[in-house]
Amino acid sequence: MKHIFAVLLLLTTLFMTGCGKEKKPKLIMVTNAAFPPYEYMVNQRIDGIDPEIVRRIADKLGYELEIHDMAFEAVIAAVQSGKGDIAASGITVTEERKKQVNFTIPYVVANQMVILPKNSPVKDLAELKKLRIGVQHGTTGDLYVAKNIREPERFANGALAVAALSAKKLDAVVIDQEPAEVYVRQMPQLQLFGKPLTSEEYAFAINKENPELLGHFNEELHKMKEDGSLAAIIAHYRSESGKTASQNAIVAEGFFGKLQESLYLNFFKDKRYMYLVKGFGITLYITVFAVLMGLVIGFAVAVIRSTADQTGKWKLLNLLCKIYLTVIRGTPVVVQLLIIYFVIFGTVNVDKVLVAIIAFGINSGAYVAEIIRGGIMSIDRGQMEAGRSLGLSHRQTMEQIILPQAFKNVLPSLGNEFVVLLKETSVAGYIALQDLTKAGDIIRSQTYDAFLPLIAVALIYLALVTLLTSLLTHLENRLKKNE
Ligand code: ARG
Repeated sequence: MKHIFAVLLLLTTLFMTGCGKEKKPKLIMVTNAAFPPYEYMVNQRIDGIDPEIVRRIADKLGYELEIHDMAFEAVIAAVQSGKGDIAASGITVTEERKKQVNFTIPYVVANQMVILPKNSPVKDLAELKKLRIGVQHGTTGDLYVAKNIREPERFANGALAVAALSAKKLDAVVIDQEPAEVYVRQMPQLQLFGKPLTSEEYAFAINKENPELLGHFNEELHKMKEDGSLAAIIAHYRSESGKTASQNAIVAEGFFGKLQESLYLNFFKDKRYMYLVKGFGITLYITVFAVLMGLVIGFAVAVIRSTADQTGKWKLLNLLCKIYLTVIRGTPVVVQLLIIYFVIFGTVNVDKVLVAIIAFGINSGAYVAEIIRGGIMSIDRGQMEAGRSLGLSHRQTMEQIILPQAFKNVLPSLGNEFVVLLKETSVAGYIALQDLTKAGDIIRSQTYDAFLPLIAVALIYLALVTLLTSLLTHLENRLKKNE
């Protein structure tokens, strides 16, 4: 036995040192990958000008590059809090942002443009004041419109704003010129309008406390400018997005022809169905573990609360439980998720799936606790007295008489809670997790089509809930038979 143990120990140390030697330090780049040609997703991979430049520099500096996709308004904060080392996301250098992060030397000039439908009656910028304008939340386009035109409608990314424009939900979109050109090429019913609204420069953002990384990046960027490789990368991706443009346009005639083509476009081209498959996996994974965690927490809290009520013991614990219930049930789950991710785990790098499980588990625990407590309370007090007079302790009576009956009574409500929880995980996208709902959004921002991706997502949830419900009914029936 001892020998086996020793060998195992030796093997693990060998294995670990072996890995250690090969592993390069990680460099985490944060971005918002729906901004072609700077960053976009193809085949579940993030590609584009920014990832390519950063990858080359990371290679030279001996880093292993890891790219995290998130909301654009979160990328600067991510660098500031240390969740990412560098933000590369077509970021315009502005005075406000300079207060929060350091910028590298700029690598491209840019500006904001207006996109209009081709048949738009708008002839003059001033007319936009009365119209619905879409922007990407937190961008310089957003700032410009809010300051100079009117309060805009804010979208999670430019593609979704443009999709809303082509669905006639907006009258105009203001966005950076290069992505605007890509979008317009893909949607023949849209066009660019007028002159640029601003003049800007893009640069990478790095934490103020990391001047070395900034220095290295500036040095490498400078070299890439000199030797022409920077210009080559930019030209390559510009023409690449020119090529792939128009591939989204539906050309087929007739209802079935169109349906077939849009099925292909939304689900099969570039293996887009894989977003749904992976998203489904993540949703299921989060739900299963959150349910388990919720059950454990809920059960413990319910037992504490009802024991305290019945025996007058555990006053302090009972108070803590009450505070937990009040706080959790009194605030929205999205806010709890954001607090856990950005505040509690603000400066540490934890796995987002874990964060989601913790957030949804803690949340569900509060509801489960009240459901189970209701079940315990519903058992006649006489049973506790009977158990005690038979010589069982409070705990034994609880375990052997009360809880089994309570569990059976609350099964339907518990089932309901799990169904609710499964659907509630759809807000996981707020911390940039690619769950099922987010998967639909990613497809939507690539194909500009709302119908099929959303319907597909809805059908998958429906199937899951139906399956869960039938499992629970089955369980209920088995328990009934055992009676
Ligand atoms: N240049 C604009 C800004 O800095 C928009 C950038 C949006 N980038 C993106 N990857 N979505 O505000």
